[in-house]
Amino acid sequence: MQHTKEYQTFFIEYLEDYSKEREPKNLYEPINYILKLGGKRLRPVLTLMTAELFNCNYKKALDAALSIEIFHNFSLVHDDIMDGAPLRRGKETVHKKWDVNTGILSGDAMLIMAYQLFESYEPNTFQALAKLFSKTALEVCEGQQYDVDFETRDDVTIPEYLKMIEYKTAVLVGAAMKMGAIIAGASNKDQNSVYEFGKLLGIAFQLQDDYLDAFGNPETFGKQVGGDIIENKKTYLYLKAIQSLTAVEKTQLEQLFTVNLEDNTEKIETVKAAFINSGSAEATQNEIKNYTKQAFSVLDKLSISEEKKTLLKQFGNALMTRKV
Ligand code: IPE
Ligand code: IPE
Ligand code: MG
Ligand code: MG
Ligand code: MG
Repeated sequence: MQHTKEYQTFFIEYLEDYSKEREPKNLYEPINYILKLGGKRLRPVLTLMTAELFNCNYKKALDAALSIEIFHNFSLVHDDIMDGAPLRRGKETVHKKWDVNTGILSGDAMLIMAYQLFESYEPNTFQALAKLFSKTALEVCEGQQYDVDFETRDDVTIPEYLKMIEYKTAVLVGAAMKMGAIIAGASNKDQNSVYEFGKLLGIAFQLQDDYLDAFGNPETFGKQVGGDIIENKKTYLYLKAIQSLTAVEKTQLEQLFTVNLEDNTEKIETVKAAFINSGSAEATQNEIKNYTKQAFSVLDKLSISEEKKTLLKQFGNALMTRKV
């Protein structure tokens, strides 16, 4: 087993090798742009790491890791169009640097490339990976649709929100790990437990993403701070605040989340103050800890050494305190 940093390095080398200049430029340049823009490489690292948890050389899992990262980046290109986001990893988003049509088609091509990478696996593994991938990718689409639907709804509940983030984000984290376990030939029980662990960690991860979207440092966050507030996203921060504010404050906040303004500076400040005063910022932090703890409790079911479990816990704890 190696540490996160090493797996990241192995992965980036493999990605460099994969991303070649190809024609037509207007299709492939945006793809290489987004893939090389950086990012935490969380999902591919998990795929490689999980293969090794079950005693398989990480090299066997590189194509699946790349597939997951390309799919993730595809979903970001389309997500940024849907969210009207100007910034990604501190740089212009694809649809801003090029245009929306370029973002759509380059994204489509990335989805195909992600599938194509499974071709290097022998039939049984290929089938298991493709099956998991299709199920997961469809769930991500469902989650994304709920996310958009919720923008214009005023009756979203916390369980609905949790389901939405499970689909748009957490299942992919679970699948990234399960793919490593599939390639390693781990037992079904271990495959399912590792998926559950990844999914719970993924829920904590999205809660933290929502928190940082409001409270991240604009200098280092890499995305537009307040983007979710501008888009009237019904995040945990918002839903918890609605539950605990006084009737008058609640109506004010609800009203703010029905408008689409030109200048959002004041809206963002007012909403952030409400998130803090209502205690919802703190409640979100607690929920992140809660889901991380739930993920850790799944580790009991895994047939791997205590040392390896500690590594997974370190990974989960590092995610909780991330600033990007
Ligand atoms: C962003 O994912 C989209 C979410 C599901 C929250 P990451 O935060 O993993 O993005 P990068 O790849 O590190 O930029
Ligand atoms: C993104 O959720 C989930 C997917 C891309 C599937 P967000 O919209 O919160 O992700 P960011 O904040 O733009 O990275
Ligand atoms: Mg977004
Ligand atoms: Mg989104
Ligand atoms: Mg976000």
